[in-house]
Formats: sequence, structure tokens, C-alpha cells
Amino acid sequence: MNPTTHDPLQDAHVVVFGGATGIGLATATAAHARGARVTLVGRTPAKLAIAAAPLGARTAVADITDRRAVEAVFAKGDPIDHLVITAGTLGGGPLAVSDPDVLLAALQERIAGSLYAIKAALPLMPPTGSIVLTGGQLSDRPAAGLSVVAAAVRGIEALAQALALELKPIRVNVIAPGFVDTPLFDGLGEAARSGLLAQAAQTLPGGRIGQADEVAQAILLLLVNSYMNGEVLHVDGGGRLV
Ligand SMILES: NC(=O)c1ccc[n+]([C@@H]2O[C@H](COP(=O)([O-])OP(=O)(O)OC[C@H]3O[C@@H](n4cnc5c(N)ncnc54)[C@H](OP(=O)(O)O)[C@@H]3O)[C@@H](O)[C@H]2O)c1
Repeated sequence: MNPTTHDPLQDAHVVVFGGATGIGLATATAAHARGARVTLVGRTPAKLAIAAAPLGARTAVADITDRRAVEAVFAKGDPIDHLVITAGTLGGGPLAVSDPDVLLAALQERIAGSLYAIKAALPLMPPTGSIVLTGGQLSDRPAAGLSVVAAAVRGIEALAQALALELKPIRVNVIAPGFVDTPLFDGLGEAARSGLLAQAAQTLPGGRIGQADEVAQAILLLLVNSYMNGEVLHVDGGGRLV
């Protein structure tokens, strides 16, 4: 950026649900590098503390599916310029052998959680503010065993586009990542994790999966480009096409 141009992120306050690791942390780090003040929200105090230290970030502990906990994050009334929601887990499982209530957690995290966070943040946001929700490649390329996650990420797109009309002039956009190398897959165990990601890389035109910072840069574009609204921005290495 031309040093004489004012960066809209300079001195902006960016709140990131899911900011302790992965895409959320990369977004917070990139925003901080451009002069933003960041608040990281997640469920695990130790992870938040490690992530926040180099950024001088404020942290808040909240499960995004817990409405009261989410409201408490905003209780101090600190104004917010941008709300980024990347909180989410891998989840899923084949319906035939899974408890539907467990599968529905994907909707709680993404749809209910986004609604709780947006509703609580709204009174603190200026008309120039913006919101980024997280969808994913599964919206266009569903996978067996991830039916409810696919429904959730498709639903996030509809939610964001309707809210872009309803919350105007606050902008609401979606980032839709493909396979990205983050701690999201850590619960699978190292062998399964590296096998899955290697297989995904093979199918992609570029022969590799993405890095969190590549998604973070696209999220920052959604934050600063004031004519992007109701957009679903794909950062998937062409994963929707193969
Ligand atoms: N990586 C990919 O390939 C990929 C692809 C498509 C979409 N996505 C989506 O992108 C988003 C970010 O994922 P990531 O890859 O950056 O994974 P990640 O590193 O695991 O980040 C997810 C973050 O969300 C937090 N979180 C999880 N559940 C939460 C909850 N209920 N309330 C509050 N915070 C919660 C986690 O911290 P705590 O567990 O400590 O709360 C973690 O810091 C997720 O929604 C994921 O589904 C990722």
C-alpha cells in the first residue's frame, strides 16, 4: 500500500471469533500488521493467551454456541469496526451411524453462533462496519459424511446475503475456504491428517493445499473494500472445479 494512503484498517477494532488459531489468527495477525486493534475470542484460555501475546490483543473466552457468553464478550461496549467469525470445528459423520443431535452441532456453531455474535456486536458497530462469516467449499462440493456441515456453510451464504440487505449499510460477506493447513484437522491424528491433506493436494490444480495467511488476505479484502457486499469469496485453489 502507498504509505501516503490511509489504510482503513489503521486503528480499526477487529473482533475475531475463532482467533486463537488457523485462519482467524492469521486474519488477526494480518490486521494487526496494518495497524488494527484486535480482540481474539475462543473457548480455550491457554490458546488465546499464546495467540494474543505477540499482537498485544485483548482476549475473551466464549463458546459461540453459548448466547450469554457471546453477549458478555461485548458487555463493555467497546466499539467494533469489523466482526470476523471463523469459529468452527470439523464435526460430521455419516447419518446412518451418527446421532442427529451431534451432527446438528455444525448448525449451532455456524448459524446460531453467527446470529448470537452479530446481534450482540451490532449496537457497537458504525455504519461503515463490516462482518465476515465463514462458509466453505462444501457448499459447492458436498462430501459424504459432512451433510450437516454442507448445509451449514450453504446456509451461511444465504444468511449473509439476507443480512447484507437487512443490516445495511453494514456490509456482510462470506469467506469460503477450500482445504487449508490449520489445526482444524489435528483431532484426526497425525497419520490421518497428513493423509487427508496430501490426498486433497493431489486433486487440486496447484498440487497443494492453502495456507491460513492466503485466506486471511482475502478476509482483509472483504473488510476494506467498501463496495463488496453479500459476496461469497472463494479461496480454494480451484477446489470447487475438480
Ligand atoms: N481449514 C480448512 O481446510 C477449512 C476449510 C473450509 C472451511 N474452514 C472453516 O474455517 C473456519 C476456521 O477454521 P481453521 O481452519 O482456521 O481451524 P482452526 O485453526 O481449528 O480454527 C478454529 C478456531 O475456532 C475456535 N472455535 C471452535 N469452536 C468454537 C466455538 N464453539 N466457540 C468459539 N470458538 C470456537 C477454535 O478454538 P477453541 O477450540 O479453543 O475454541 C479455533 O481457534 C472453521 O469454521 C472451519 O470449518 C476451514
